[in-house]
Amino acid sequence: IKYTIAVVGATGAVGTKMIEMIESSTLPIREIKVLASKRSAGKKITVNGLELVVEETTPESFDGVDIALFSAGGSISQQFAPEAVKRGAIVIDNTSAYRMDPTVPLVVPEVNPEALKGHNGIIANPNCSTIQMMVALEPIRKKYGLSRIIVSTYQAVSGAGIAAVKEMKDQAQQMLNNEAYEATILPSGGDKKHYPISFNILPQIDLFSQEGYTFEEWKMINETKKIMSDSEIKVSATCVRVPVVSGHSESVYIEVKDESASVSGIKEALQSAPGIELQDDPSIQLYPTPLTAEGKKETFVGRIRQDIDVKNGYHMWVVSDNLIKGAALNSVQIAEKLHGMGLIKK
Ligand code: A2P
Repeated sequence: IKYTIAVVGATGAVGTKMIEMIESSTLPIREIKVLASKRSAGKKITVNGLELVVEETTPESFDGVDIALFSAGGSISQQFAPEAVKRGAIVIDNTSAYRMDPTVPLVVPEVNPEALKGHNGIIANPNCSTIQMMVALEPIRKKYGLSRIIVSTYQAVSGAGIAAVKEMKDQAQQMLNNEAYEATILPSGGDKKHYPISFNILPQIDLFSQEGYTFEEWKMINETKKIMSDSEIKVSATCVRVPVVSGHSESVYIEVKDESASVSGIKEALQSAPGIELQDDPSIQLYPTPLTAEGKKETFVGRIRQDIDVKNGYHMWVVSDNLIKGAALNSVQIAEKLHGMGLIKK
């Protein structure tokens, strides 16, 4: 078997990485189809020396496609994912369009691959901030149980797309030159007001939703419960945009169920877990940062320490490249799992 794989949003920040991850994956590939908007049709993309020509996304684009990876925004997924499924493709969707649909598996391969079994053609890739937190916490949950998570994120600008990264760099240049600067995208392209991100921090990602929380924060709360199959676990999040190009960082506070837990026990659990690299040694100032995580596949964990007051409370610092494990790599790993489990029909 060899698969024809389509990437929708192939010219974007995540789409470009998806092509790279497909190229370096274990999947048997016949062809990669690169799809975007009409604006990009005819444009050439080069990946590892391979030149691909971008096509406009239409329902017919999915004829003959086995696996379609979507990362072109929720409305594009809603419009074309059902068309792709109708034509026999399996869709792995990186947007939030289908994540909370009870008939759609929401999968981090290190955590809940068995959820793939019941799929109906669409699989959802979780939010970037949720994925790296799940990779880091699952080994601890398995060993000690988890009752509560409180997370504050420090999220990179590439999560908001290529145009947002360009705007940040332009602002930085203009600010250094004492020139006038513009803010037109962040915190959210869909909101009324926009603020500069360069030399700044914005405590808003996506639009505001219920109870004073943003949609990004609700994604972390609801997706965690779904992925961990635990509606009882307490989760709260504060999502913040920082002037970093790629690499999301998270300050994570957890409360474990098992009173016998310890920092060394947590470190041991993480050391042997898939997809994790422990970078934790204060004596030599070893801890992860976005710049050291950029371009890497792993989720990096450091600063693990016990809470001062709560015996079963622990703090840690979790960093991963939001475009790689947070998006493109996780999607491709889902495809590899589906292939390995014989769940892709041919
Ligand atoms: P295009 O470059 O043609 O606009 P990013 O997240 O970096 O902003 O990228 C968004 C991706 O979504 C791009 O690849 C973009 O393609 C794609 N996209 C935007 N609108 C559409 C559309 N109507 N149909 C298909 N792809 C789209």
